[in-house]
Amino acid sequence: MYTLQTKQLSHRFGNGQMAVDHINLQVPDQSIYCFLGPNGAGKTTTLRLLLGLIKPTAGTINFFPNHPSPNRVALMQRIGACIEVPSLFHHLTAVQNVAICANAYRTPKSRMDEVLQLLGLADAKNKKVSQFSLGMKQRLSIAIALLHQPELVILDEPTNGLDPQGIAEIRSTIIELNKNEKITFLISSHLLSEVEKLATHVGIIHKGQMKFQGTMTELYQASSKAAKLILSTDNDEAAMQLIATHFDMQPIASGALIYSSIDQSLSLKINRMLHDHRIGVSQLQWQDNDLETHFLRLIQNPTL
Ligand SMILES: Nc1ncnc2c1ncn2[C@@H]1O[C@H](COP(=O)(O)OP(=O)(O)OP(=O)(O)O)[C@@H](O)[C@H]1O
Ligand SMILES: [Mg+2]
Repeated sequence: MYTLQTKQLSHRFGNGQMAVDHINLQVPDQSIYCFLGPNGAGKTTTLRLLLGLIKPTAGTINFFPNHPSPNRVALMQRIGACIEVPSLFHHLTAVQNVAICANAYRTPKSRMDEVLQLLGLADAKNKKVSQFSLGMKQRLSIAIALLHQPELVILDEPTNGLDPQGIAEIRSTIIELNKNEKITFLISSHLLSEVEKLATHVGIIHKGQMKFQGTMTELYQASSKAAKLILSTDNDEAAMQLIATHFDMQPIASGALIYSSIDQSLSLKINRMLHDHRIGVSQLQWQDNDLETHFLRLIQNPTL
């Protein structure tokens, strides 16, 4: 079941640029969905569309399709968000910042302490935000986003600008909240390495278009399918025919023994078979089967 679905969601800016181009987001219940894409891909614009901060040019947004909210106010009470730079009052303490939002949401004081505790800020709650590190500010922003006990939390690049320890802290906090509080997360990021450690599901966006969407496992599978086997032999013509006969595989490029394959164990079998037919193999190589290369391919030239 999905917490959020969009259909053909699009946004064209005044200058004519299609920043979000027919996106079909599918964020499953209780997932950590990472929206991954390079700078300028359209991540923030998509998240702003979801939160009603800008209007779609086309398409629909459907939150909680199985138990929808009767109106926009009720809907927003189920969603927590932190988009781009956290807007905190730096001259106030952490707890004063939380209190301002708690008043707006009419949340009890006990919940204020709870969110500060959840984000590891209980000891720093009386410190002024101006004395906070960037990581602490990020955690405070997330604490505020959690105040009204949302079912879905939308965060725009929550680890941006943080050092490795700060990144690890935010990551483990998100994973814990997802597991213990059953919160669904939609998080944008431009770092594959981060997404790999955090996401259950991933959507890859580039130039406003969704290039891949699925579970992390599916992304790994797609990446290994995109791998290529490159062969050089002392008789390529004969090798090509033997591979066609024994493995029902045709090269994807003419004039070279380049195969796209799904199973790396095939390389051993092919090598053995060619050897049995007295064909000398001078090169047998797998290429592009790591996730990063696959990701770069998706956002550079998807036809490759
Ligand atoms: N207000 C605006 N007016 C015109 N174009 C805009 C506006 N905001 C964003 N864009 C353009 O829309 C595209 C998507 O921008 P967006 O901020 O959504 O990307 P992003 O994926 O969040 O990038 P980043 O990783 O840098 O945060 C970019 O080409 C950007 O220049
Ligand atoms: Mg952005």
